Amino acid sequence: MITDFEYYNPVRIFFGKDQISKIAGQIPSGSKIMLLYGGGSIFRNGVHEKITETLSDCDLTEFGGIEPNPSYETCMKAVEQIKAEKIDFLLAAGGGSVIDATKFIAAAAKYSSGDPWDILAKAAPVQDSLPIGVVLTLPATGTEMNRNSVISRKSTTEKLAFSSPWSLPRFSVLSPEAAGSLPKNQVANGLVDAFVHVIEQYLTYPVNAHIQDRFAEAILITLIEEGPRVYADPADYEAMSNLMWSATMALNGLISCGVPGDWSVHSIGHELTALHGIDHARTLAIVLPGLWRVLKEEKKEKLLQYGERVWKITEGTEDERIDLAIRKTVDFFESLGIRTRLRDYNVPRETIDKIVRRFEDRKWLSLGDRGLTTPSATRKALEYQY
Ligand code: NZQ
Ligand code: ZN
Repeated sequence: MITDFEYYNPVRIFFGKDQISKIAGQIPSGSKIMLLYGGGSIFRNGVHEKITETLSDCDLTEFGGIEPNPSYETCMKAVEQIKAEKIDFLLAAGGGSVIDATKFIAAAAKYSSGDPWDILAKAAPVQDSLPIGVVLTLPATGTEMNRNSVISRKSTTEKLAFSSPWSLPRFSVLSPEAAGSLPKNQVANGLVDAFVHVIEQYLTYPVNAHIQDRFAEAILITLIEEGPRVYADPADYEAMSNLMWSATMALNGLISCGVPGDWSVHSIGHELTALHGIDHARTLAIVLPGLWRVLKEEKKEKLLQYGERVWKITEGTEDERIDLAIRKTVDFFESLGIRTRLRDYNVPRETIDKIVRRFEDRKWLSLGDRGLTTPSATRKALEYQY
C-alpha cells in the first residue's frame, strides 16, 4: 500500500536554451548577490558571461574554487565573505558540488546555534537559510530540484549529507547546452548517478505504487536508451536534454512519494569517496551489484520486475533472470567506461574493515530498505566487488 505522503516542490524550472536571461527577474531587486562556482568550467562554456551580462545592473560578488565533493573548509570561507559583505542572495553555477556547497553555505550563514558542522554530523535542524538560485551545467545529482546536500570534511575524511526544506532553490536554470562541454567521464558519472537514484527509490519491495514504479522504469529506460548517444557526443543537444530532465526527475521527490526507499548504496559509496576520493557515481557502480547479490532473495520481486520491464528479460528461472538483470546493469555501467570492482580503483582490502567499523561506530546497524543493510551485509557486498 502507498503510505500517506505530503509532496511539495516549489522549485521554478527554466529548461533549455536562452534561459539564463530570465534569472534577473527572479532575484529581488536591490539584492547583494554572490555567484558561486567551481574550478572554472563556467568560464569555458559561456555560462559566466551570460550570468554577468544578465545581472550587469546588480550588485554581484563572486566566490570560485569550490571543489568536486565540496569541503566544509571551503564552504566556511564563503560564509566568512558573505557575512563580511552582507550578501543576501546566492547564485550557484555548475554541477552538484557547487550547488550542494551553496546549500550548506546558505544554511551555515544563518546558523546561530554553534558550529554549522553539527548540521551534518548531528542532524542539527536548519531553521533559516539565504535564498538560493541555480544554473545547472551537469545532469546527475538532482540537487537543482531537491532539498539535499552532501559535504565532505577534509580534516576527518568524512562525507555527510543533510536535507532541509530551507535548501530548496528558488529557481533552477537547466542548461543542456552548457552541459555540452562536459568531458565524457562526467557524462558517464551523471548517467550512473541518476540511474542509481532511481534504483534506490524503486528497487525495494512491491507496494502497489503503479505510478511511482512506472515513472521510475521510464527514467531507467530513457537513461539506457539515451546513454550511449550522449556519452558518444555530449554536445548532442537532444540526447543531453533527455539526460538532464531524467536526472532532475530521478531525484526531485516525485518517484519516492509514499513508497519505501533504500539509500544504502549511497551511504556505503560516500565512504569510498571520503576515504579514496573516488567519483561519487563510480562508488555507486561498485556497491550496487554487490549489494544486490547479497540481498537477492529479499529483493527478489522487484529485481524480477526490473529485469522484465526495464531489460525485457522474460525467460529462464527466477534465479537466472535476476542474475541476468544484475549482469546487464553492470554491462551498462562498464559500457560507459565505469569500472565496477574495488580493485579497479586500487582500493586496499583494509578499506572494507574500515567502512564496516565506521558504520558500527555510528550505530548504523540496519541501513536502507527494511534495515537489510547490516554491517555484515555491507562487508559481504564489498567483498563480492573486490
Ligand atoms: O568545478 P568546475 O570547473 O565547474 O568543473 C566541474 C567538476 O570538475 C565539471 N563540470 C561541471 N559542469 C561542467 C563541467 N565541466 C565541463 N563542462 C560543464 N558543463 O565537472 C566536475 C564534477 O562536478 P561535480 O559538481 O562534482 O559533479 P556532480 O554534479 O556529479 O556532483 C557530485 C556531488 O554531488 C553529490 C555527490 O556526493 C558529490 O559530492 N550528490 C548530491 C546529491 C544531492 N544533493 O541530492 C545527491 C547525489 O547522490 C550526490 O551524493
Ligand atoms: Zn547519487
